[in-house]
Amino acid sequence: MTKLVVANWKLNPLGLKEAISLAKRTDLKNAIICPPFIFIEEVGKTIKRAKLGAQDAFWANIGAYTGEVSIDQLKRLKVKYIIVGHSERRKELEETDAMINLKIKTAVREKVTPILCIGESKSIYKKGIKATENHLKKQLTKDLSGVKKRSKLIVAYEPIWEIGSKRADTPQRSIKMVGFIRETLDKLGHRGVKILYGGSVHGDNANIFLDEKNIDGVLVGGASLKPHDFRKIVDEAK
Ligand code: 13P
Repeated sequence: MTKLVVANWKLNPLGLKEAISLAKRTDLKNAIICPPFIFIEEVGKTIKRAKLGAQDAFWANIGAYTGEVSIDQLKRLKVKYIIVGHSERRKELEETDAMINLKIKTAVREKVTPILCIGESKSIYKKGIKATENHLKKQLTKDLSGVKKRSKLIVAYEPIWEIGSKRADTPQRSIKMVGFIRETLDKLGHRGVKILYGGSVHGDNANIFLDEKNIDGVLVGGASLKPHDFRKIVDEAK
């Protein structure tokens, strides 16, 4: 089965010309490209094979919410996926599980697939497997509270300490964690959810994760800005 490769461009690139060029060079089947909001419309018009995603969205579709972008607005630009609860938003913007839960519910209602990001900090990781499992379970339980069973969902496991670290988690540990996440999702009544791994995935280590039966794809930051590296990851996903 072909796996998913999600490109999270984060705050890149600087201008529209570079965004269009990057989109053209990473427009591959089974890729989901998530540019910054300002480039979404033009990237959407550029790509033919990849799908379009956003890095966030607000939970309300109408109302006075300065600076926010609604899922309804994004849908009109052909956005099919929305990253929700990325650790950078949880940390830098103090996004809470309650906010994330509202965003997921709206995405599900609007038939846009949420890519829910969960993962432990370095200090939790250091406390051991049990502490990590408790943290992941807590995040899943709160973030998916009241979300209709059998909703189309993707969960991305991103150990925070692996993001941008230039090395990736030992596969044995992530495989174990992904197994735990699947077990927890099953218990919560969410079966058949795709689970991705994210955190320093690049062309030379993607196969370690993508060859794993239990891992359905990867969420890629830095390497998604390097077309050669990104193409290698997508090739590994076939
Ligand atoms: P890096 O691939 O740069 O470590 O980023 C991972 C990430 O945060 C993707 O959402």
